[in-house]
Amino acid sequence: MKVGILGSGGVAQVLAAGFVKHGHRVMMGTRTPAKLADWAARNAQVRVGSVSEAAAFAELGVLAVKGSAASEVLRAAAVGLAGKPVIDATNPIADAPPVSGVLKFFTSLDESAMERLQREQPKLRLVKAFNSVGAACMVNPEFKGGKPTMFICGNDQAAKSTVAAILDQFGWEVADMGAAEAARAIEPLCILWCIPGFLHNDWRHAFKLLA
Ligand SMILES: NC(=O)c1ccc[n+]([C@@H]2O[C@H](COP(=O)([O-])OP(=O)(O)OC[C@H]3O[C@@H](n4cnc5c(N)ncnc54)[C@H](OP(=O)(O)O)[C@@H]3O)[C@@H](O)[C@H]2O)c1
Repeated sequence: MKVGILGSGGVAQVLAAGFVKHGHRVMMGTRTPAKLADWAARNAQVRVGSVSEAAAFAELGVLAVKGSAASEVLRAAAVGLAGKPVIDATNPIADAPPVSGVLKFFTSLDESAMERLQREQPKLRLVKAFNSVGAACMVNPEFKGGKPTMFICGNDQAAKSTVAAILDQFGWEVADMGAAEAARAIEPLCILWCIPGFLHNDWRHAFKLLA
């Protein structure tokens, strides 16, 4: 697929390399393409452009920007991404520091960031994914406990099927938790995932759903 990744940070870079590894064509969209010059030189298959260029290029979009910037970035990408599946990998992390290793969010348990974004951009087919694991473990991670589970949600079944196929390539089992409201539960998994990191510098783990 042609994948347009919005963002230039650790998540955007890891996912861009992962999509290339699995044979997809990738364009990253950033406000400042120049800051990716060194990275782009080492990852020559990835094109770098503006947010709107990456959105227009995409068959599948990936939102990988700071949570507080997500609305603004999606606004800039909305025309190009209209009607397309878009992975929302963001978390609504507040600027306040963690307390006892527990991150603060700027959302409440009654409304997730993804629901807000979906309401603001009804033409985009958002799918929450990749938010509940660290960037270093996103692409074909290996754990002693076996294949990890990625919790996803979204209002569009076809978009979720597209993302589930990508997650299968990236080495994940998929647990579809239903509509966008499920992001109220999936986004805070990021808080739980980060606690061992902040408390014990342990950043190598993932969730698994057992039945
Ligand atoms: N780091 C992880 O391991 C991890 C894991 C799971 C989920 N996440 C989530 O994934 C997202 C990306 O995380 P990250 O660690 O890669 O990077 P980040 O530092 O959270 O975000 C960096 C990106 O945000 C954009 N950005 C920041 N402020 C902006 C503003 N005012 N307006 C427009 N764009 C702005 C930047 O875009 P420009 O390129 O235009 O400067 C940059 O690409 C976050 O929502 C994070 O919570 C992170």
